Amino acid sequence: MLLVVALVLLATILYYNVRKPAGFPPGPPRYPFIGYPFLEKHLVHKHMQRLSDTYGPVVGIYFGPQPNVIVNGWEAAKEALANNDLNGRPDNPFIRYRDGGLIKGVVFTEGELWKEQRRFSLHNFRNLGFGKRSHEAVMHDEVQELIKEIEGTDEGVELQVKLGVSATNILWALMGGTRFHRSDQKLIDLVESLNKSVRAGEVSGSIVDIIPPIRHFLPKDSNFSIVMDGMYKVTAFIQEAVLEHKATLDTSSPRDFIDIFLTEMQKQKSNNETTFNEQQLVALCSDIFSAGSETGSSSVSFAILFCALYPEVMNKIHEELDSVVGRDRLPSLDDRPKLVYTEAVLTEMFRLRGAAPLTVPHCAVRDTKLQGYNIPARTMVIVNLYSIQMDKKYWGDPENFRPERFLNPDGSLRKDERMIPFGKGRRVCLGESLARMSLFLLFTGLMQKFFFTIDPSVHFPDTEGRGGVTLGPPRFKVFAKSRF
Ligand code: HEM
Ligand SMILES: *[C@@H]1O[C@H](CO)[C@@H](O)[C@H](O)[C@H]1NC(C)=O
Ligand SMILES: *[C@@H]1O[C@H](CO)[C@@H](O)[C@H](O)[C@H]1NC(C)=O
Ligand SMILES: *[C@@H]1O[C@H](CO)[C@@H](O)[C@H](O)[C@H]1NC(C)=O
Repeated sequence: MLLVVALVLLATILYYNVRKPAGFPPGPPRYPFIGYPFLEKHLVHKHMQRLSDTYGPVVGIYFGPQPNVIVNGWEAAKEALANNDLNGRPDNPFIRYRDGGLIKGVVFTEGELWKEQRRFSLHNFRNLGFGKRSHEAVMHDEVQELIKEIEGTDEGVELQVKLGVSATNILWALMGGTRFHRSDQKLIDLVESLNKSVRAGEVSGSIVDIIPPIRHFLPKDSNFSIVMDGMYKVTAFIQEAVLEHKATLDTSSPRDFIDIFLTEMQKQKSNNETTFNEQQLVALCSDIFSAGSETGSSSVSFAILFCALYPEVMNKIHEELDSVVGRDRLPSLDDRPKLVYTEAVLTEMFRLRGAAPLTVPHCAVRDTKLQGYNIPARTMVIVNLYSIQMDKKYWGDPENFRPERFLNPDGSLRKDERMIPFGKGRRVCLGESLARMSLFLLFTGLMQKFFFTIDPSVHFPDTEGRGGVTLGPPRFKVFAKSRF
């Protein structure tokens, strides 16, 4: 009797652990308790694209007990990103750890908190010059410093960390109002731990998301400690800056974003339901900082890497820069509309090696539909941007680096609606304008001055890049020969 009860119980538990909801998108089997934990760790976006060859553009897949949907290809992605019921974010144990059990900030929040904080951040960062002309001088200073640092070195230079320092300074000018010396060890450490953390993390959820206690038993093997180390370093850095700002705050003349937020906190002091508090400030700045500094430098690194590998592309950029800008001043935003070929190269770089092959995971805030399938509330939804940019049926030869695909026969720039390296819709990257502008100025500034070739002493296996939360460049070194 007892045995029968136990068996029935077991069967019931198993049943609920292998069952998928009615109308759930097709996908690999859901095994009891573990789901389908067999996605490749490295370059998971490629594995996801292959799954769509088998199951169709919308793939349903379980990570542990968590239902997930992976959206591949343009049509399905367009529908998903336009559906506001899919604009939530799933719970994230790493962020709860960071924010003391809560979820704050902007990247991982949803609902009213997210809306209010995103609107406030965008509005005030724009007023400070985010992605605008007034920010150009800061970027030009960074380019000049970087050129000074590289110029005259005969050995191969590793650009990644150097560019990370530039990207961080560009962001910090608006957020924290100061500029760090390029050799500031604190800043270099921060850039390096952030890189390690981003490389060790996984967009699609790690083993820690499936079995949370594992972080205590295997902090190293589960990569939990590496991921958290980078996150804690960022928050500690922001916390320190907030303390300094509080000590010197003049609410009548805010110097930067942190001051503006602190001023808003004072204004809303008597509102007992305000979302403006110090914990939110630290989480918000940590989010923007983490989302912006590594991605920014990756894009420039990839663009330089491709130029070094394709000298004929580099020659055309040099010719264009010489004829449009000359050599007496740095390229500026005003030149941008005339630097058509250069723009096509950067677009092609984003297509092949965008820093975000996958969006940040979205989440269904209520039951909804996608391409006719049922998406139950709280399902995690990841859009595979890589699958759009590498769609063979559309691009023909997606594997080739061929900037000309973004040029019209008359030589003008061909805009393509499918190029959405920053996402689309209400969750679109908050830093897009800043990222595009700093990529343009850093890249053209370096290209105007240098002729890059690969340093063969550092072997890198291929240009696929390194996976993780974002896609980073492989480790490589270049010789930078001055052109003048
Ligand atoms: C080349 C560089 C960058 C790329 C390719 C990129 C791409 C993306 C993508 C694909 C998303 C997710 C969209 C979604 O969830 O659907 C995102 C979100 C975000 N990005 Fe970026 N990004 C870049 C640089 C930056 C920079 C420089 C900043 C800040 C200064 C930034 C801040 C953010 C934030 C705050 C979010 C979350 C927005 C939200 O959840 O509402 N990003 N980015
Ligand atoms: C980034 O982190 C990875 C993984 O830890 C490491 O192999 C790589 O060398 C780092 N890159 C830089 C530029 O520090
Ligand atoms: C930990 O991160 C490294 C890259 O830094 C990666 O190669 C490895 O697969 C990750 N381990 C786990 C368990 O995710
Ligand atoms: C805030 O104050 C209002 C009115 O005084 C009260 O009704 C409400 O419950 C308070 N909310 C919180 C979160 O304490």
